[in-house]
Amino acid sequence: MDKTLPRTVADFIGWTERRFGEAGLYFGHGTDNALDEAAWLVGSALQLAPHELDEHLADEPTAAQRDAIRALAQHRIATRRPLAYLLKEAWFAGLKFYVDERVIVPRSLTAEFIQEQFQPWIEIAQVHRILDLCTGSGCMAVALAYAFPGTRVDATDISSDALAVARINVENHGMGERLRLIRSDLFSVLKNERYDLIVTNPPYVARAEMQTLPLEYRHEPALALESGATGLDAIVRILARAPEQLNPGGMLVAEVGNSGVVLQEKFPAVPFTWLTTSSGDESVFLLTREQLQQHQARFAGVL
Ligand SMILES: C[S@@+](CC[C@H](N)C(=O)[O-])C[C@H]1O[C@@H](n2cnc3c(N)ncnc32)[C@H](O)[C@@H]1O
Repeated sequence: MDKTLPRTVADFIGWTERRFGEAGLYFGHGTDNALDEAAWLVGSALQLAPHELDEHLADEPTAAQRDAIRALAQHRIATRRPLAYLLKEAWFAGLKFYVDERVIVPRSLTAEFIQEQFQPWIEIAQVHRILDLCTGSGCMAVALAYAFPGTRVDATDISSDALAVARINVENHGMGERLRLIRSDLFSVLKNERYDLIVTNPPYVARAEMQTLPLEYRHEPALALESGATGLDAIVRILARAPEQLNPGGMLVAEVGNSGVVLQEKFPAVPFTWLTTSSGDESVFLLTREQLQQHQARFAGVL
């Protein structure tokens, strides 16, 4: 056999990485570089979870597996569809989720804080009811249910398509007893519900910015990304209503991406606590119910 052709799993990862690099793909839907995405693709063609791949780097894929790797790489390059949609899988907080084009690909930076149970910010024993607002695939709601055993979790989305995907994930993870999926425009059908913790990754992309996003984003539902002229429409509505939906001592944790800068500028008096991820990102903030109450009039546009 020609020695230059890929032979082992490691060779195929290198081959795929080079094809991805040459094609100028964008990575931001479950990975952030060509090597990680190539490893994910090859592992998946071999039906290996990411953590199992290392032990198999010297294996030689079968002819069918080689064909699958080449076909997937070609499809990814030709269509610019995020790999998660091609594989119908995404990994979030160490958990596997079903995904398709009805939801965005899970990538929320909040995962890290969920896995750490929001320590040291939250008193775990005080958390009984959790809300994941704008749940999409249900990834955060399911991860929250794992991280806070014994709690009840509500997860809402305005999109019935998204909720259909979330239902698959709730069932796959056996969380149906503890996790309720609800169709709602933000808090609209939750008027009498109170939570100890509200977590949200709402849409937060400014309208004009939508046109500048890499092609991969065009495969995701615009409803999940765009939020008005400044990107702040959804988050400001959430901030204005959250105090009524939280129990005393409760907290709101929200992810706002690049729009965090505009949000802080718009509300300079609000003491947002920006949480820092292991990679130094600060796009997730935390506010207590008391802080939300204190500034509610600003969020409601009265001040
Ligand atoms: C950025 S995605 C987040 C999905 C998921 N939480 C995640 O992190 O992968 C935002 C979600 O908000 C939903 N959404 C948009 N507007 C909404 C609204 N007014 N009320 C409830 N959900 C909304 C979209 O359908 C989408 O699923």
